[in-house]
Amino acid sequence: PSNDQGKVQNHETKAPTQLAFLAYPDLTRSKPSSVLFQQPSQLTTFSYTPEHVQEFTNSAMRYFVDPPSGANLSYGFERWIRKPDTRGRLDALLKAISKVKRNVEEQNGKLPEIGVVSWRGVMTKILTSPYENRDGWELNVMSINGTLYFEEHLTDARLQEKNNMEPRQKTQTYYGYAFESYCTSDSPHSSRHATERESHHGWGGDVDTNVQWCSVVRTKLGDTRLIIGGEVDCVRGKYTGQTDAFVELKTSLAIKGRHDEIKFEKKLCKFYFQSFLLGVPEIVVGFRTPAGVLTTVQSFKTIQIPRMVRGKPGAWDPLVCLEFGHRVLSLLKDITRKHSVQAENRQSVPVWRVKFVPGSGLRVNELEAAEVADVVNQEDRVGFLPRWYWNEIQD
Ligand code: A3P
Ligand code: MG
Ligand code: MG
Repeated sequence: PSNDQGKVQNHETKAPTQLAFLAYPDLTRSKPSSVLFQQPSQLTTFSYTPEHVQEFTNSAMRYFVDPPSGANLSYGFERWIRKPDTRGRLDALLKAISKVKRNVEEQNGKLPEIGVVSWRGVMTKILTSPYENRDGWELNVMSINGTLYFEEHLTDARLQEKNNMEPRQKTQTYYGYAFESYCTSDSPHSSRHATERESHHGWGGDVDTNVQWCSVVRTKLGDTRLIIGGEVDCVRGKYTGQTDAFVELKTSLAIKGRHDEIKFEKKLCKFYFQSFLLGVPEIVVGFRTPAGVLTTVQSFKTIQIPRMVRGKPGAWDPLVCLEFGHRVLSLLKDITRKHSVQAENRQSVPVWRVKFVPGSGLRVNELEAAEVADVVNQEDRVGFLPRWYWNEIQD
């Protein structure tokens, strides 16, 4: 039987649990159809304390300062306080949304219908998939009253792997955090060097990855409204209460030849979408030696990045990513809508699994009871949503 619906093919007859398969996008297609992405607008911010407790303050906000050239990015490695990697639960983002909703309602307003709630990292993975040829990803998805909730699915094995990094990878990961320290200060007009608050030249304080400052924004991809939360590294100058002073900090190996340049241009796709999704207008890249010595620092305007790579060997087209993302969201909306009728007649709430395999594509299936139990992980949850939130959204 012909079950071809454009690119989306139903495979229900072959494998009953697989609901849909979205083929790997054909990058040779000349022109992707354009999907609009609305300028993100900030709803709220919050901080995580050193105990990794969420609070609705800007206590973890940092200000950009120029890092010293030649900075040693290994400095302070032994004192790094590492936040353990955990499942990508949405709880903190849901707390923020719940608070925003309450505030809006107190002023007799109403938050518009939201199509998707997700951490920024998950949306970045979805959007950059067309150009990803190494790392796959998996998501858990739930649909409640027309809102899709995304949670990254990390197996216990993958979590263990992340928590027991190879020494080399651990060192390289630290370089990124050390760069953040050198580039930031807790006051806007830092006289850090003059006061020598820190004994080490230009150092902004020891790295504690429990401490994070996060922004929650609303935006639109095509006709789907999204609420996205993500960490913001620092602000330049004065914090305006919006996203326009945000700065993303990145490190990368110094470019020494054509090969390095192509690799860097490929990486820019991820840098671009990571920042773009939260409305971060500036990315400051610290180039380093393999041994972690900062060589040069370059600032990029986020919106100009696509133009920089256009027509180059490692080129990527942001429209391909936006179109792919739009197709993924449409597919998930369709699947969850189609199956919601069946869902009404049963006890449990369905949880969906999306699996992306580079070079192959993306498949969606519904989890079986045992797999849902794995997602719940004996916590007080409905699927992966915390029960307090679940209760709150029941009319
Ligand atoms: P770099 O990006 O400079 O390498 P972010 O850039 O998102 O603010 O993250 C800060 C740092 O966290 C990164 O610095 C990197 O060291 C580490 N990091 C972020 N995402 C990571 C991932 N998926 N795997 C390993 N390290 C990661
Ligand atoms: Mg960050
Ligand atoms: Mg960063």
